[in-house]
Amino acid sequence: MVRPGGRAPGLSFSSMTEPSHLTATRTFYDAIAADYAEHFAKELQAKPLDRAMLAAFAELVRTTGGGPVVEVGCGPGRVTAYLHSLGLDVFGVDLSPAMVETARRDHPDLRFHVGSMMDLDLADGALGGVVAWYSLIHTPPELLPATFAEFRRVLAPGGHLLLAFQVGDGPLRVAEPFGHPVALDFNRLAPDRIADSLDQAGLAVRARLVREPDATEKVRQAFLLAGKPV
Ligand SMILES: C[S@@+](CC[C@H](N)C(=O)[O-])C[C@H]1O[C@@H](n2cnc3c(N)ncnc32)[C@H](O)[C@@H]1O
Repeated sequence: MVRPGGRAPGLSFSSMTEPSHLTATRTFYDAIAADYAEHFAKELQAKPLDRAMLAAFAELVRTTGGGPVVEVGCGPGRVTAYLHSLGLDVFGVDLSPAMVETARRDHPDLRFHVGSMMDLDLADGALGGVVAWYSLIHTPPELLPATFAEFRRVLAPGGHLLLAFQVGDGPLRVAEPFGHPVALDFNRLAPDRIADSLDQAGLAVRARLVREPDATEKVRQAFLLAGKPV
């Protein structure tokens, strides 16, 4: 699927000037892909409310035509695979080639591509759903409106968006994860501000869940469901 007006095939950011946050994010996740995949492989099993939001999203997509769904920032593909188990025609996109390689290894029946959520190689209105599950957290806040505009562009009218992120203000620096010599900022976000930003991008917020941290988490977790109006 080639996006009209998009980048020329084969021309990647690395051959132009790539925004520094993308380079930093890729370097970080390339280093930790295998450890991350192993650590989080079964995480959803212990998170019923998170699964409930994914199930609601899947039902909404199925009942409004079931068009293809992308998980942007899919990492090792565990959430992509869960959405597939809920009956969705879903594929994953991630900035990190090592994450995409890991996702293909762990889920050989599913499709995963290297790419950026800020510049998806998809036609306008191609999708019934977009999921960004803890993957917006490395995008500088000033670039979130443009990212939401990109989600709106690729969604068909009536399509659905699901976001998950940690609640808070400002970034948290994570250094030497799993003992690897890398570091990256993780942005904690304010659900009301994200909801306003979605609204301004033309994505109507339909539901928001903020739950308390469980034993493995330090802060509250937010889940926002939005849709592109018909
Ligand atoms: C915390 S991990 C979450 C992975 C997966 N969604 C999960 O829950 O297991 C964040 C992922 O988002 C990806 N990512 C961050 N910014 C991205 C962007 N602009 N485009 C595509 N992927 C991105 C990273 O490479 C990383 O794999």
